[in-house]
Amino acid sequence: MKMDYFINRATNWDTPRRISMANHFVNALLEHVEPKSHWKGMEIGAGTGLVGLQLLQKVRSMVLVDTSVKMLDVLKKKIKGVKNVEIVSSEVTDYQVRDIDFVFSNMSFHHIEDIPATLEHVYKITQPNAVMVIGDLRSEDGSFHQFDPVPHRGFDTDELSEWVENAGFSVKSVNTYNVLKRERMQGKISEYEQFILVAERK
Ligand SMILES: C[S@@+](CC[C@H](N)C(=O)[O-])C[C@H]1O[C@@H](n2cnc3c(N)ncnc32)[C@H](O)[C@@H]1O
Repeated sequence: MKMDYFINRATNWDTPRRISMANHFVNALLEHVEPKSHWKGMEIGAGTGLVGLQLLQKVRSMVLVDTSVKMLDVLKKKIKGVKNVEIVSSEVTDYQVRDIDFVFSNMSFHHIEDIPATLEHVYKITQPNAVMVIGDLRSEDGSFHQFDPVPHRGFDTDELSEWVENAGFSVKSVNTYNVLKRERMQGKISEYEQFILVAERK
């Protein structure tokens, strides 16, 4: 397995800024989707649970998938005694059961190498009409992760939509829901748009 990018970030992950980013995503998601109490949910790249643990209250159960043992260590401390959560400490491709009604991901897809293969696998483990919500950065110049390159400099949402459709989903909407402002070069504030893509499995 490749080097864990988050190994030294996990214990300090839950900053006010990241909590606010996660809240923005949850609010945007809830504008488009009304999670049902009988659904089994899944988050891909759950990290410390900033998004998934908010949505857990709305569904029957949830699978939280992440490749970082350290991020999951932080998450596990938050869910001691919680029964309706399953942790998958691996790639989503290691989850093989077709029982997911609702799959979502926030700021994790740009860390995943092969998006078409990941989406094809998501198709295999989801029920017909399952809802999928992907939140991430729109295409950026690479400065967002300038010191630690990642597989994707954000996404061209037309290309991502094509991959989503090719995997067997219908794209329902793609919207910009937030703009991050970061000083990546001294004295220069760069803006990074965050999109939310909502799709339904055929
Ligand atoms: C930027 S963090 C976002 C965490 C969380 N979704 C949030 O909003 O705070 C990205 C997460 O994706 C995870 N990740 C990276 N590559 C992954 C992969 N191939 N499969 C599953 N998770 C992955 C990382 O370990 C990390 O926890």
